[in-house]
Order: sequence, then structure tokens, then C-alpha cells
Amino acid sequence: MRLNPLLGRLPTYPTLVLDQRRASLIAAGLPVFDFGVGDPTEPTPAFIRKEMQGNVADNCRYPSVRGERRVREAFAAYAYRRFGVTLDPDTQLLPSSGSKEAIFHLPLLVLDPAAADRTVVFPDPGYSVYQRGALFAGGIAYPQVLSGDFVQRVWELPEQLLQHTRLLWINSPHNPTGAVMSHEDLHRTVETCRRYNILLASDECYADVWFERPPASVLEVAGPGAEGVLAIFSLSKRSGMTGYRTGMIAGDTRVMALLHSLRVNPGLAPQDFVNAAAAVAWADDQHAEERRGIFSQKRKVMIDFFREVGLRVVASEASFYLWVEAPGGDGQAYAERLLDVGIMVNPGSMFAVTPSARPYIRLALVPDVPTCHAAVSAWRTVL
Ligand SMILES: Cc1ncc(COP(=O)(O)O)c(C=O)c1O
Repeated sequence: MRLNPLLGRLPTYPTLVLDQRRASLIAAGLPVFDFGVGDPTEPTPAFIRKEMQGNVADNCRYPSVRGERRVREAFAAYAYRRFGVTLDPDTQLLPSSGSKEAIFHLPLLVLDPAAADRTVVFPDPGYSVYQRGALFAGGIAYPQVLSGDFVQRVWELPEQLLQHTRLLWINSPHNPTGAVMSHEDLHRTVETCRRYNILLASDECYADVWFERPPASVLEVAGPGAEGVLAIFSLSKRSGMTGYRTGMIAGDTRVMALLHSLRVNPGLAPQDFVNAAAAVAWADDQHAEERRGIFSQKRKVMIDFFREVGLRVVASEASFYLWVEAPGGDGQAYAERLLDVGIMVNPGSMFAVTPSARPYIRLALVPDVPTCHAAVSAWRTVL
């Protein structure tokens, strides 16, 4: 049988590697301090769970790709409160089954696999799905290497590359580093993409996980109608709803109409009961603030420890990730050393296509505060 050769060529998807590692630690009877997958353990707020349970109809019919208006209205109200932007719930919003699928499928909207100009630019290190979606859609994947402050400056890309680019990903707050793009950075990014007629896609799934200042959205600088711009949001991190699979795509009216006509083909539509839960989650800001409080306590435990022992945390301004320089400059070797005492962190290289992220490790602030303290004690034994 002839299969898609990409499946053999791409490295194992990062979370599968982590699952295997966790299983081998547990099998060895070791305590596991899991800072690996960005899937926090705090329960989903009760009012969200209740809303979902109360909306499972006796006969669950097919959901529509546009989803019920209620969830789009709730998101539009959130976007106005949070970013001061006005979005039309009927023409500028589509719910997604988590933001991952929306990210994976988006290249299908813009790429012509037979054309020379089919490049997709994405941050490196970065979320693996930008590259994978581009490749499966027949595109050319171009990792824009980040370093220093890990802010992506697309206006510094070579002109010839921009001329061949159809889709450009940004991600602020950024996974894996936690770096944040300023208003000015976002403004220059929008300008650059418009100049070269590139669809700008901004992954903002960590928009509500911040500690000092709320990060800006690309929608704040895209102007009315958000010409040439899409932003993708998620309730996974904001509301602790990873298992519900619920996100929202927002932006340019014309692009959204085409995206709707694309998404009806595979029928990419969250269930109505998930949309009902999403509507109450977008409508409430208090639980998101409480979650920020919890992440901020965990963050303090780990940052205080790193400061005390001289491990340098780089760029991590928002999101629940800490990007740390590995002693000796080898993230893989350091992650393996930590595994000996049950601490799971990710080598930076796991998030990068190029070798640029090898000197780093990433921690996801997943374990609760007491477990963070216990992990710090274990970490001291391998310093
Ligand atoms: C940068 C980034 N974007 C998107 C996602 C996908 O989130 P979800 O599909 O749960 O909305 C993740 C998940 O970790 C992520 O880190």
C-alpha cells in the first residue's frame, strides 16, 4: 500500500513522546513531577460543566459549522471587553473544535499546491501544528528562527520569501517561550502582511494567561473589518477546557465566508452542548482571573528557585510556560538528567524544526503549588 510519505518523515508528535516518557516513569515506580504537556490539572469551573451537561439534548442532531449564535455573541462580547474590538457574530466568527484543528486546516484555505508561491511562515521554536498543517496541505514550511527576546519580527524576513508566502503565523503569548508581541510589533506585522498580500493568522490561545499586563490582540491593530487578518482563540487554557475541544476563529469577513465554505466539507463543527458551555465560559471573566492567580503562584515558586540557583529564565512574560537556559547548553541532556529524579520537562528542541532551541528546556506550569515545591526539592538533588 502506498501511503502519504510525510507520515514517515515527520518526527513523532511531541505529546506522544511525553506520554511514553510519563508511562515509563510510572512503570519504574518513580514519583512524577510532570511539567511536560500544557494541560493543567485544575478542574473546569462547575458552572461550565453544568452548562454542558444541561445541553445534551435527547436527540443530538448534527451541529452546524457556524454553531449557534449564542456562542458567537458571547465571544463578540468578550472580544469587546477584553480588546475593545467590535466583531460581527454573523460574519466574522466561527467556532472550532479546539484551536488545534483550526490551525491545522487553515493552510487548505490559501495554498495552491501547484503554485510556486505556497510558503507558510511560522515561528521556530513554536507550536508544531503550524509546520504540519502547511506540509499536509502541500505547502512549503518556512520556520522563522527566534532568538534573544524570542519576539517574531516578520518585517525582517527577506523580500523574496515574503513574495512567495501565502500564510504567516504569529503566536503571542508564545508557546514555548512565553514571549509577548507589543502593539507596535503587531502593527508592523499587519502592515508587512498586507503589503505582500499574505493572510496573517495570529494564534492567541494564551491571550488570557498573563501576569503583569494583558497582552494585545492582533485584532486591536487590524482595524474595522480586520482585512487580511484572522485570530484564533481557545478556551483550553483560559477556562481549563482542553478536553472539551473548543476555540473560536475571528477576523476578515471575506476570508471567514470562504473559511466557512471550506469547513463544511469535512464538517468541522463543535457539538452544540460544547458551544453552550463555551458561551458561558466566554461570558465570565472571573474564573479566568482566578486561574491566572493559580498560575502566578506556581510561576513564583519556580522562578524564585531558578533565580536562587542561577538558572536563567528567558523571555517568559505570559502563558504558563517557562523557557529556561539549560546548564551546559544542552536541553536534551538536562531534561534527561531531571528525569532521573522524576521531573519531566521538555527539551527545547522538541518545539523546533531548526537546531536553534537546543540550549533550552520548557516547563509547563501544570503541577499544583505543593507539587511544585516538592519538585524544587527533587531538582536540588541534581544541581
Ligand atoms: C500555541 C498553541 N496554539 C494552539 C494550541 C491548541 O490548543 P487547543 O486545541 O486545545 O485549543 C496549543 C496547545 O497547547 C498551543 O500551545
